[in-house]
Amino acid sequence: MNINIGKELFLDISKIEYETFFYVKKKLLAHKVVVIKKQSLTDEQLVAFAKMFGPLFDANKAQVLGAENGKTSEVVVVGNNAPEFEKAFLGHQEVLPHSDHQWVAEPSSLSMLYAIDVDAKSSPTTWTDTTAVYKELSKDLKDQIASKEITTFNPFYRPFGEVIAKYVNREEDVPPGEQISHPLVRTHSETGDKILYMHRAYEMEFKNTSYNQGVQLWQKLNDYIDNTKAVYEHHWENGDLVIWDNRATLHYRPSFAKSIRRVLKRVSITGEKPF
Ligand SMILES: [Fe+2]
Repeated sequence: MNINIGKELFLDISKIEYETFFYVKKKLLAHKVVVIKKQSLTDEQLVAFAKMFGPLFDANKAQVLGAENGKTSEVVVVGNNAPEFEKAFLGHQEVLPHSDHQWVAEPSSLSMLYAIDVDAKSSPTTWTDTTAVYKELSKDLKDQIASKEITTFNPFYRPFGEVIAKYVNREEDVPPGEQISHPLVRTHSETGDKILYMHRAYEMEFKNTSYNQGVQLWQKLNDYIDNTKAVYEHHWENGDLVIWDNRATLHYRPSFAKSIRRVLKRVSITGEKPF
């Protein structure tokens, strides 16, 4: 299989016009992750660029990273040792493989992270191409999951840092909060590609599936996610702007030492109900 994830582009986002923007969009759809280095952007410039892709993501009162009183933030500071910001999120802990906002009705379609001040000793971020993972599944497994739905429980109903990837056993515990289900095999709204729409970060289950069958299926699918070579690993430098297709990728960050400074800003774009 061709490994196609990740593409570096050489542009100045602060001066971008629509012709170049369409080129970025095309590359993003083809490579899932686009890296633009050496940017120097104000929040206004970052948001203006993000809005070229569409309206910013709004979780419609659902709890998501950086939301306050039911209002979704435009710019979320993902930071550790970032005292100049009133609110910075995710600290130094490991962030398990996920696509953003899978527990809401209309998850974001794409997101971008802009590196403000990242110590070289902090962790890289990796993205996995979940269209490639879907293609790699056995025919039997594809048939088995063709009409399955995945329910993802909103992690913000649990104390911060407590939620780990877990297949829910309803006889023991039903996680609090709303229960949002999406197709486990989703179709990309722009490319038509099929995507394994799973994550490895939160409490989840497959709808209308017994616990034992669900756990087995979960483990099989996790093996494919763990073993694919369709992964891009990004080692951050200040000024990097990384844009990813949030429909068709998972992203992951290992933990790093608590003393290390790492400051990035994230902006997410609206998405649709997965189908
Ligand atoms: Fe994320």
